[in-house]
Amino acid sequence: MARRSALGEPHPLRFDPLSPEQLENPYGIYEQLRDEAPVFYAEPFDLWVISRYEDVLAAARDHETFSSRHAVRSSMATPPPEVEAVLAEGYPQLGTLTDSDEPYHRRLRGLVNQAFTPKRVAMLEPRLDQLAEELIAGFASDGEAELIDRFAWPYPLAGIADMLGLNRADLEDLHLWSYHWLKLIQATDPVEDQVAYAESFVALQRLVMRELEARQEQPTEDLMSALLEARLEGERPLSLEEALWVPLNLIIAGHVTVTRAIGNSLLLLFQNPRLRETLEADLEQRMPAAVEEFLRLESPAQGLFRTTTRQVEVDGVTLPAGARVMLHYGSANRDPRRYEDPDEADLERAGVRKHLAFGTGIHVCIGAPLARLELRIALTKLLRRLPGPRLAGEPERDTIFFARGLSRLPVAWEPDG
Ligand code: HEM
Repeated sequence: MARRSALGEPHPLRFDPLSPEQLENPYGIYEQLRDEAPVFYAEPFDLWVISRYEDVLAAARDHETFSSRHAVRSSMATPPPEVEAVLAEGYPQLGTLTDSDEPYHRRLRGLVNQAFTPKRVAMLEPRLDQLAEELIAGFASDGEAELIDRFAWPYPLAGIADMLGLNRADLEDLHLWSYHWLKLIQATDPVEDQVAYAESFVALQRLVMRELEARQEQPTEDLMSALLEARLEGERPLSLEEALWVPLNLIIAGHVTVTRAIGNSLLLLFQNPRLRETLEADLEQRMPAAVEEFLRLESPAQGLFRTTTRQVEVDGVTLPAGARVMLHYGSANRDPRRYEDPDEADLERAGVRKHLAFGTGIHVCIGAPLARLELRIALTKLLRRLPGPRLAGEPERDTIFFARGLSRLPVAWEPDG
């Protein structure tokens, strides 16, 4: 299908998030999708991409028509038998918050809410402060560091691990296994790699199950113990095998997203010196709005997936029952029908928190208050402690279909400043 670009050259409408051009800058294709085919069938992926704000909002709210089963799977291909065999050694996949529907989701979310409370998030603040300080102190005097490895993943992972009551010594494994899980569900790598990813996922399940069993024997003060103790009137408490999927979900969703948000925010600041100046002129006051704009402009979860439970019309396009759909939060967040100057970071924007970076509806991010707190602390401290920060090499993009982020971000600063 040839389309005319603004410059008049033929421009194929090709949605391919892992292509080098779209990894670098996907916003041109998003604009084309919104303008020319707001409900676009991406044939190579057998996926309907919904790209306008209002349409994404309506679909995310209609959880009966848009089922969340397999909400994180970009590919529905059956895993190779070698991978299935490894996964069969793990625990039954009873479902996480992210990929379950009502009524299971309602019960799970109600019970998780009893454990993952605002109070628990607030209690983590001094710890996050200290974590950020310690990590930065490890490289501040070097004048240069690769910030994804040295900061952007260890910081949020240590935060959620502390909340769950997991061992610090396991952080490297937890990080690697989470990343392997993302690669496992993407299913684009050679089979032998996918087998290794499946082994990592089973190892992660076993680690979490050991921790849950220990708390069943001997309750503790942490979130994992609170999960086992959570009670809701009229509902069964969580069995160990059900509970398992909650920490797994929190460990993965709770750090890979914040890691991306930290890298994306810093890169945006390096690319926009004026924005950085405005922000730094009143760092504490302006940071909360800046965090929202960073999330809107470079949403770490670009989109999540749904499956239609019936035939449904979206923006004049009829989707059959069983259609795979991507709710494109990243595109919706830059829709000019919804936002004035959508590509600009505006720290004075009215309703600055009203974006879809955390989703909406029953699956809205349960970790959003924690993510906002983590980002505010991290970005404020990085900008304060690393004076005159700048890129010290080419950043590298991570290659996850539904996510946007960096795998490397080399940064230099004035060490004595
Ligand atoms: C900047 C950071 C984050 C971003 C951009 C983000 C984004 C999202 C999005 C878009 C959803 C909705 C998924 C859907 O529509 O299917 C979601 C759900 C979820 N997030 Fe986050 N998230 C972040 C941080 C966190 C943190 C820190 C945690 C936990 C510690 C977390 C845990 C979850 C969970 C468990 C769900 C599933 C909720 C449900 O389905 O009921 N997220 N997140």
